[in-house]
Amino acid sequence: MATVAELLQPVEADLDALLADLRSLIGAGHPILQAAAEHLFAAGGKRLRPGIVLLISRAISPAGELESRHRRLAEITEMIHTASLVHDDVVDEASTRRGVDTVHSRFNHRVAVLAGDFLFAQASWHLANLNDLEVVKLLSRVIMDLADGEVKQGLFRYDTGQNFETYLEKSYCKTASLIANSARAAGVLTGLNPAQLDSLYRFGRQLGLAFQVVDDILDFTGSDQQLGKPAASDLASGYLTAPALYALEERPALAGLIEREFSQDGDLEQALDLVRSSQAITRSRALAQGFADEARDALSWLPPSPSRSALLALPEFVISRLY
Ligand code: IPE
Ligand code: IPE
Ligand code: MG
Ligand code: MG
Repeated sequence: MATVAELLQPVEADLDALLADLRSLIGAGHPILQAAAEHLFAAGGKRLRPGIVLLISRAISPAGELESRHRRLAEITEMIHTASLVHDDVVDEASTRRGVDTVHSRFNHRVAVLAGDFLFAQASWHLANLNDLEVVKLLSRVIMDLADGEVKQGLFRYDTGQNFETYLEKSYCKTASLIANSARAAGVLTGLNPAQLDSLYRFGRQLGLAFQVVDDILDFTGSDQQLGKPAASDLASGYLTAPALYALEERPALAGLIEREFSQDGDLEQALDLVRSSQAITRSRALAQGFADEARDALSWLPPSPSRSALLALPEFVISRLY
């Protein structure tokens, strides 16, 4: 199976330029905020979200060329994503991210909150400067969804009565909305028709849901080192994701452990074992696979190009992170 770098190869040079640009874009703030923002950009993520925007932009451009507006959209997308990670790590009290200390552990909570705000604000400024009201609406909606998703997640902590729908709504808000709306925005900038825009949105939405379910599975099956962030932390924080929700249907004992918030010695280990030894991981994989298949189907209309091939391979790549 391809690595993410191989998959993003048609836009590799674009992504290198993006990283340099991002650094100069965030260069305008207070040195402390700049250092905090730079800290995570330097650690380097997978750059999947700007990669998707760039691949779509190339795949739908008649000459396969990129316009500066599409590049800027990709940069805004990664800025919003990084801002959401800085804040998410504060909310989760997470110690590591992208294999390095989180911003709040490296600096402090005040700096992390402000650095996240700073990145969101920078993203909004550059968004407005694209001078396309439709795109402004799409991406500002994402910032609303991100906050909404964090709140939803907090409200349902340790709640064993929550339904699967709530989990999927939360996942849409925290993860799929950004990928879906930035995919659609790339199409808006190119002037695609409504049906094409809907299919770009659908691709991003289903891919984002697959990505989040995979991330939620890896939280149970991966190690800190593999993930570059603390593993086995969702259940410990009371976040009930797909594996935990499926396991609750099979293992009645799990509910009691969760409801008493793992307050007794060995509760958490026992709960993790219950999830890992049930069919929950297998069922979660099937769920992610379904979303990945739907994502792939949404883009079959694209004209042949290396970018199209990469986009069609992306859903399977997301699933392959599990193996
Ligand atoms: C992390 O996203 C947040 C989730 C949606 C699970 P990524 O796994 O894409 O993070 P980076 O950007 O590669 O660090
Ligand atoms: C990812 O959700 C979405 C955002 C960070 C906004 P998670 O909470 O699962 O992300 P990780 O696991 O901390 O990367
Ligand atoms: Mg988190
Ligand atoms: Mg996670």
